[in-house]
Amino acid sequence: MRLRVRPVAGLAGTIEVPGDKSISHRAALLGAIAEGPTEVTGYLEAADCLNTLAAIEKLGAEVTRKGPGHYRIAGVGLAGLQEPDSVIDCGNSGTTARLLLGLLAGQPFWTMLTGDDSLRRRPMARVTAPLCEMGATIVGRADGGKLPLAIRGRRPLAALTYRLPMASAQVKSAVLLAGLWADGPVTVEEPAVSRDHSELMLRQFGARLSAGDRRVTITPGGPLTGGAVQVPGDISSAAFFLVAGAIVPGSRVGIRRVSLNPTRTGILDVLTAMGVDVERAETPAGIEPTGTVTVGHARLRGTTIAGALIPRLIDEIPVLAVAAAVASGPTEVRDAAELRVKESDRVAALARELGKMGAQVEERPDGLAIAGGATLRGARVESGGDHRIAMALTVAGLAARGETIVEDTACIATSFPDFVETLNAIAGGAAVTVEP
Ligand code: S3P
Repeated sequence: MRLRVRPVAGLAGTIEVPGDKSISHRAALLGAIAEGPTEVTGYLEAADCLNTLAAIEKLGAEVTRKGPGHYRIAGVGLAGLQEPDSVIDCGNSGTTARLLLGLLAGQPFWTMLTGDDSLRRRPMARVTAPLCEMGATIVGRADGGKLPLAIRGRRPLAALTYRLPMASAQVKSAVLLAGLWADGPVTVEEPAVSRDHSELMLRQFGARLSAGDRRVTITPGGPLTGGAVQVPGDISSAAFFLVAGAIVPGSRVGIRRVSLNPTRTGILDVLTAMGVDVERAETPAGIEPTGTVTVGHARLRGTTIAGALIPRLIDEIPVLAVAAAVASGPTEVRDAAELRVKESDRVAALARELGKMGAQVEERPDGLAIAGGATLRGARVESGGDHRIAMALTVAGLAARGETIVEDTACIATSFPDFVETLNAIAGGAAVTVEP
């Protein structure tokens, strides 16, 4: 599948984006091990999160779809999961694989996990190392560092204080989940604050959790209790429209009911620093900060994206690179080596593909140097099977001269199946067409 993208005169409208991917995964996993039902609304019905639902069903939790994005998960409690009778396929989803490993570390049975070509290349040792330290047995490729992996958990696991080598919410969450079955408190210390959705939901479900400055402790004991989870829209999906609105002259774009969790709003800070007037209005809904964000076209200037900002916008860097390419003046992205081990090597992909459109983007070991001031021109570009690269290149096409073809775009369905329809709705028609 490919997308044909035509430049547009302006984007206008207020839209909603699908449910937050990170929160959806956590609702499924915590719902499965809670006592009683969990009712989730706004669940992201995209391949990654559907893989997590399929995984918990294989482990014995009952999942009922009650309507679009509305699921009832009948939790089996902390001791109720069952050994699955076949391999769990996590598809393209790193969050499914890594959080599930944390949960399985506390289950006294064998589970086998695998994933697609991209996920089987991604590092798992960052999760399996602390889980093995707690007492789980994990075997598989690369000495237990790559999928496919087999894990046999233990109950109880050993208590642990773990200092994360990188700011990763997936690793933090895996260790905290395992902590539910530990024989004492489990503490995770992170080098920079990463998204805290696991902490918020664990607390909502009754876990004993204390969080301070870059340090979270879970104290096991007592059940989790299921409840209602309202999933707000995903700011990582909203990001494509926010940048499109900022770079296409004549645009004004609003996103309603989107997550405004401060561990995720780095993109709003960067757009503001680049000269965009970002309006935000909070509307209380559930335990996650949520609201409306509106942006309009602006003359962008380059900026620096580094340090503690990085985990607050790691998934938005592909589309921010597009904004940086057309901004006046250079932009530097540093401290973002994690980009190289996402669904693809995003540093290499951005330098290569935006280069084809006339942008000057240089690779750095831990980021990018983007010259800025580019007049983008339509080109034939490749996603490399990475959903966020595919959508970022589509946004670049909207602001380019001439037509852009984005190849290999079926991957968009991993996080945002209605991306093209949503974009066309604010682009006044068929800015983007899908070709087989
Ligand atoms: C996620 C954490 C981030 C992010 C990913 C989702 C999560 O990954 O890139 O898309 O839901 O915890 P890392 O934890 O590897 O940084």
